Amino acid sequence: MIRVQATTDLAATTAADTVAIGLLDGERLHHDTADGALAALVEAGEARATPRHLAQTHADGKRWLLVGLGERDELDDEVLRAAAATVHARARELGTKVLCWELPHKLGDELHPARAVVEGTLLAAHRLDRWKRRDEDDAPRGVEQLIVSDHDDRTAAVARAVVVAEAVNACRRLQESPANEATPEALAARARELHPAVRVEVEGRDGIEARGMGAFAAVAQGTRREPQLITLRYEPDGATGPVLGLVGKAVTFDTGGISLKPGAKMAEMKFDMSGGAAVLEAIGAIARLGLPVRVVGVVGATENMPGGQAMRPGDIVRSAEGLTIEVDNTDAEGRLVLADCLFHARQEGAERLVDVATLTGAIVVALGSTYTGMVASDDAWAGEVLAATADAGEPTWRLPLHPEYARAVRGKYADLTNSPEARKAGSITAGEFLKRFTGDVPWAHLDIAGTAWDGGRPYAPKGGTGVMVRSLVALAERVAAGA
Ligand code: BES
Ligand code: MN
Ligand code: ZN
Repeated sequence: MIRVQATTDLAATTAADTVAIGLLDGERLHHDTADGALAALVEAGEARATPRHLAQTHADGKRWLLVGLGERDELDDEVLRAAAATVHARARELGTKVLCWELPHKLGDELHPARAVVEGTLLAAHRLDRWKRRDEDDAPRGVEQLIVSDHDDRTAAVARAVVVAEAVNACRRLQESPANEATPEALAARARELHPAVRVEVEGRDGIEARGMGAFAAVAQGTRREPQLITLRYEPDGATGPVLGLVGKAVTFDTGGISLKPGAKMAEMKFDMSGGAAVLEAIGAIARLGLPVRVVGVVGATENMPGGQAMRPGDIVRSAEGLTIEVDNTDAEGRLVLADCLFHARQEGAERLVDVATLTGAIVVALGSTYTGMVASDDAWAGEVLAATADAGEPTWRLPLHPEYARAVRGKYADLTNSPEARKAGSITAGEFLKRFTGDVPWAHLDIAGTAWDGGRPYAPKGGTGVMVRSLVALAERVAAGA
């Protein structure tokens, strides 16, 4: 883990062996080395403002990296996160131990340069291959310390960013863990170790059935592994705003069940617990930051397996809310789990709801890995959630609801079908289905099937992205501030 600190000292006077400085198009550098080595790099055309372009030199007993940041007009946190990731990769290659980032000067208030540089660096340092054997001699060299230098004191922004970035990386570790390790019980164990201020209650198969959660139980009946209904509560003294309900889908492996998925890339379905992982780690970060907001988290964790005990297409199940559901496709299991979890969150006192789920392949077709898809029942709440995702730098796009879509989820024999016959607007009809379980609580659903893994961003190119951890923390901050 990289240690991070802020300083108001000039980068040149810090103990860093490597200094990173961003280069904006057409702008001069604010500081240089004694012999003008940085200006010389620019003059020679070796250093360029092209985003993520790197140039390096040695001067004053340090290594200097100039990284392109593009045009000032187009500069945002994402450009800085990407630049920080690029710098981190080069620094690691070069054997840098202590890296100092000199933040760009005079940026607008909508930018969070300290946060972006810390996030970009720490997220880029995450490794995918922790299951591989390592020889002692080629133990990975890594950056040990990051110093963020700015004229203003960035201590608070840096401390927050470290907590959030570590939560994102913890989420990615859960996502990447194979289904034989990241079992429902392992997720429950992770919930219990998040923070002393987070109280956790866990129920297994018997408890889920006893609560009348027939939809969740139907998914879980196909696996011998114990499903887990994980309820988390964070209730700091003095928090008075609405209770924020965070609900996550944690299908630890989705085979599709009897409606079996094709074999190609089925291994990716270990990521089908990404929503639950984001909810867990976001709540951990919220508690570590001590945000004055009440949160109730509900994570529904189970495998979706075929087998002699598994639910069959055509089965009719009764949700805890009372609505009956025809299981027309056992691969539409996420909405069955979430139906009961959303209702449970309401019963536990949630006054605003957000659910996070790798819910539909259709969202991957519609938005790729660029935008998370949102479906929401309440415009004001949708606006808050979108503002939080924008603040966090996790692009999110709202899809429309319509009575015609709502009609598509009506069942032939039961109240609802989990799989509309016409395979149209699949991400929206999934949202329409979930909406039936949210009562009159303002609710937003985030479909992260496209954004949860292999995001292709420089700071998280492959594997889990930890998407929505940053946004959920930003949302909790907004609610704490009286949103
Ligand atoms: N976990 C999948 C969604 C998914 C698909 C995520 C591909 C990432 C990549 C979900 O449980 C699922 O299988 N959904 C079905 C629903 C359909 C049967 C109505 C889908 O999208 O095909
Ligand atoms: Mn499925
Ligand atoms: Zn699934």
